[in-house]
Amino acid sequence: MKIYIETKRLILRKMEETDLQGIFELDSDPAVHRYLGKKPITSLEEAASTINYIRKQYEEDGIGRWAVIDKMTNEFIGWAGLKYEKEVREEMYYYDLGYRLKEKFWGSGIATETAYESINYGFDVLNLQTIYAGAHIENIASNKVLQKIGLTFLETFVYDSEPHHWYKIDKSAWEEKMRLQD
Ligand SMILES: CC(C)(COP(=O)(O)OP(=O)(O)OC[C@H]1O[C@@H](n2cnc3c(N)ncnc32)[C@H](O)[C@@H]1OP(=O)(O)O)[C@@H](O)C(=O)NCCC(=O)NCCS
Repeated sequence: MKIYIETKRLILRKMEETDLQGIFELDSDPAVHRYLGKKPITSLEEAASTINYIRKQYEEDGIGRWAVIDKMTNEFIGWAGLKYEKEVREEMYYYDLGYRLKEKFWGSGIATETAYESINYGFDVLNLQTIYAGAHIENIASNKVLQKIGLTFLETFVYDSEPHHWYKIDKSAWEEKMRLQD
């Protein structure tokens, strides 16, 4: 099982077919889908196609979201990481930063921690020049994570008939931020 990153409390690894129950718990929760189109899944088949969809991206795009695992308990927390996004902005394909966690894990900085590791990986390992992200304008937690980690707000756009905030960070800005932190 390929592990990309280990932090003090998390393992970020490749999504596996055995994550079926974890994805089902995550994506069948209406609270998780509140700002994601309000269409939680209702079957294990849908969870299986999410896993297949992500695993296909590893092969086709060289990157896809990672499973986030609690290091202490081995519990599936959710997913996080980068995706080569082809469907959200009509005018461009781009590398998207994202995260989706089971509700019981919200509020302890896990999304911020995964965002930090994902951006580092994108710039250091994949050598990307820019990483983008979008969040529903009412999704306070997600907007806060993106701002806290250092992305810059660019504009508001409409996706799935809903208003979203659009952010980006360039490799040079991230490197400067890291240099100032040292
Ligand atoms: C968005 C999400 C990943 C955030 O995960 P998390 O681990 O709770 O995030 P963090 O703890 O790293 O940071 C959240 C920040 O938002 C703040 N926050 C959360 N809800 C808030 C609210 N209603 N009002 C004000 N601040 C709020 C937290 O206090 C925290 O900020 P702080 O560290 O300055 O205190 C999680 O809520 C989730 O999975 N939501 C469902 C899926 C989703 O919406 N994904 C994002 C799609 S763009």
